[in-house]
Amino acid sequence: MTETVLLVGGGGREHAIARALADDCSLYACASNRNPGIRRLADGFETVEETDAVAITEFATEIGADLAVIGPESALAAGVADALDDAGVYAFGPRQAEARLETDKAYQRRFMREADVPGCPDFEVFDDMDAACAYIDEYDGDLAVKPAGLTGGKGVKVIGDQVTAEEAKAYLRDADYDRVVLEERLVGEEFTVQAFVADGEFRATPAVQDHKRAYEGDEGPNTGGMGSYSDTGNALPFMEPGDYEDALDVLDAVVDALPDYKGVLYGQFMLTADGPKVVEFNARFGDPEAMNTLPVLETPFIDVLTAARDGDPLPALAFSGEATVCKYAVPDGYPTNPDSGARIAVDEDGVGDALLYYASVDEREDGLYTTTSRAFAVVGLGDSIAAAEAEADEALSAAGDRVRIRHDIGKPELLEERIEHMTELRE
Ligand code: AMP
Ligand code: GLY
Repeated sequence: MTETVLLVGGGGREHAIARALADDCSLYACASNRNPGIRRLADGFETVEETDAVAITEFATEIGADLAVIGPESALAAGVADALDDAGVYAFGPRQAEARLETDKAYQRRFMREADVPGCPDFEVFDDMDAACAYIDEYDGDLAVKPAGLTGGKGVKVIGDQVTAEEAKAYLRDADYDRVVLEERLVGEEFTVQAFVADGEFRATPAVQDHKRAYEGDEGPNTGGMGSYSDTGNALPFMEPGDYEDALDVLDAVVDALPDYKGVLYGQFMLTADGPKVVEFNARFGDPEAMNTLPVLETPFIDVLTAARDGDPLPALAFSGEATVCKYAVPDGYPTNPDSGARIAVDEDGVGDALLYYASVDEREDGLYTTTSRAFAVVGLGDSIAAAEAEADEALSAAGDRVRIRHDIGKPELLEERIEHMTELRE
């Protein structure tokens, strides 16, 4: 039977989800922007805000959706999964209560402490900013300052890395957040493991390293992610045997403690000298990380979705064993002062064997326009990270002058630096 699937969201991550599903189901999509890649793969497309649970549920009912996949966290936070489930459309994505794992960082840390999830850094939660500032003074060492709510990955300030203690205090006083988490600064290399979760079990995908900083050499402000890479196996070159498995133990403990969780569980880890510690959890695929994972997933993604919905055991996952490198093209000035509304040209035939994913672009009658967020990405695949990188970079050679790219992501020199960094930390 052909399933009718509704995809919520219009970014690069959702284009990757659409491509993983389009051949195996009747796909419909809804998002606030018109993503040309998704629109072409879908049998129908509706423009709606991703947070409009009522409109999304109406659209799902109208098309007779059997299933829904929710891309962005904003939709989860708005209760879109709850609304779809309640309307009889199984949503692959957690309900609001479980999505708090991502949407409320104070809840996330307290949950880890109470459920005894391994890898939790030392932390305190404050709703009084004066008390938070006093804690910064008292705490002998570096801290990460995190607003408890969603900030699109851009609200965290790490003392001793991005800001001084004085700047962190000024930030807390000016921003006037309701609640912040202050936690031990973790030092090491970051990596992500995403898993499919349903009925108290999970299936994990290979580790990915994302690059959040805006400029080459990991300089500049944090972004949603400028690009990412994965290797031919589950681990990354800077990891040692056992590190990936330690990360799976963390995901296992979360899934055990949240039996109603369903959808994608994204663990963001810092590989420290003492092994992986949890930077955060997300309740959905990463963007760009979905673009690393889904192209190498050989198990039909629809089989994961239907098993989750039907209460069947999730299928064992097979991967192609290729390395991937994803690079984003972002509007000039992104993230601080993005050149939105710029008309850009994307040469679809010029990307060669690389995969092209459209992200936050808007398709109008006379062409493609940037928004305030990342525009499009390419993914190279190969039998090594270096081969995948070369394919991705070549694909971007004609990207045009109104977008910016971090060419360094996935290059051998950068990988070497990561390995040296971890070797030094372990000594
Ligand atoms: P988040 O929004 O929690 O993903 O944080 C954004 C970025 O801040 C992460 O990707 C890390 O680079 C950094 N970060 C968050 N928490 C910590 C921490 N405890 N120690 C060091 N860096 C952190
Ligand atoms: N790449 C980071 C995220 O999706 O949150």
